Amino acid sequence: MIAREQDTVASFLLRTVDPDRYRQSVVSAQSHAPLCMMGVCFECLVEIDGQKNQQGCLVRVRSGMRIKRQIPEG
Ligand code: FES
Repeated sequence: MIAREQDTVASFLLRTVDPDRYRQSVVSAQSHAPLCMMGVCFECLVEIDGQKNQQGCLVRVRSGMRIKRQIPEG
């Protein structure tokens, strides 16, 4: 799927990925998905270009960006 020009990482992923698979808590392994879409709740954390804990709702999608779900390791 191709991102729209105005998409943030979170809005793009919500259109293309099952919300139950957006991310998992590293503490409880429970599924989490973006909630506020304005930088308040931190439920949208993703790894972007190798940097973890980026708020997907505040970052615009751009060409070549590497986005990775945050899930517990192990
Ligand atoms: S969706 Fe709430 S901070 Fe990103």
